[in-house]
Amino acid sequence: MANGRIPDDQGIPGLGATPSILHGMERVFSGVQSSGAPHIGNYFGAFRQWVADQHKADSVFCVVDLHALTIEHDPTQVGTRALETASWLFASGLDPEICIVFAQSHVQEHTALSWLLECTATFGELRRMTQFKEKSKGNESVSVGLFTYPVLMAADILLYDTNKVPVGDDQRQHLELARDIAIRFNGRYGDTFVVPEAAVPKVAARVMDLQHPERKMSKSVTSPLGTIDLIDEPDTIVQKIRKAVTDTDGEVRYDPEKKPGLSNLIEIFAAASQRSIEDVTASYDRYGPLKADLAEILVEVLTPVRERHAEMQADPGEVPRLLAKGALKARAIASTTYLRASRVVGLLAQ
Ligand code: TYM
Repeated sequence: MANGRIPDDQGIPGLGATPSILHGMERVFSGVQSSGAPHIGNYFGAFRQWVADQHKADSVFCVVDLHALTIEHDPTQVGTRALETASWLFASGLDPEICIVFAQSHVQEHTALSWLLECTATFGELRRMTQFKEKSKGNESVSVGLFTYPVLMAADILLYDTNKVPVGDDQRQHLELARDIAIRFNGRYGDTFVVPEAAVPKVAARVMDLQHPERKMSKSVTSPLGTIDLIDEPDTIVQKIRKAVTDTDGEVRYDPEKKPGLSNLIEIFAAASQRSIEDVTASYDRYGPLKADLAEILVEVLTPVRERHAEMQADPGEVPRLLAKGALKARAIASTTYLRASRVVGLLAQ
């Protein structure tokens, strides 16, 4: 059933069809880690696609708080950070009336399915994951959770009969793995999972660090001047763009290999203004005015997001309430898929 929907409930008594099957709509699923403050890479690479998708597809978005435990963490911060991340998703424009937003740890089927998939994935394919190699490099003690993280991510996706996964470029390899696992599982046990496709934006799929444009903008690497966080005030944004590293040849040209700093700024400009890279490049012949206009447009795009986020802080109960509602809806879908998968692998019915 490559890329198709599961046609019905696989003939297993008592299993209802999922809402997207009933509506015949495409299902979109994606997730974000709650390990740090979201930045413009997350916003342009992912969140903005999600906000658009919620109007076109049956959409489910997850704050992946279990993933945050794979590395050293402060237990007093785990819950707060999950709420904080969810609040940025709502502030970015996700509407809990039309899409599902929930915390991964609230839906236990994620870890349950992850086990079934761990028994399908191979050690060799997990060992090839570049993010695991990068995150484990130089660490003496690496958790098993960090190693199996991409399988939990596959479970996140496959539980929701997902057709499309809007993500930034850095998640491509994990998406390939999720597809491989789904195809192998379906081949072994019969059609059980929808095989998902990655949807990577054409522009800003990999926003780079403003000070080190050879590496991607990241929540986990401390680079105060290199990262524009969604929480940043206008003055801070202006200052960070002004100080962004470029080059000395002075020619406005999009060339990520030879001019990584400037090309990154052009790409952020194109994403923020929803103009093409060619159009932005053709509009400037000096770096200074390009930077000034970029800072202005970023402030214009990000200010409403920051303001909505600040407004949400007035009622600390709101985000937990929204996540609880989201978890109920997510569980209804996830439990059906998990039951289907647990039956086909041969586990006893409860
Ligand atoms: P995470 O939390 O690192 O990032 C969330 C989303 O933001 C995108 N992104 C970027 N896009 C462009 N430029 C950047 N510099 C940049 N940095 C991050 C990411 O590609 C992602 O789309 N493993 C995932 C979370 C996850 C998930 C899932 C995603 C868990 N389960 C299921 C999709 C489906 C992660 O760590 O994303």
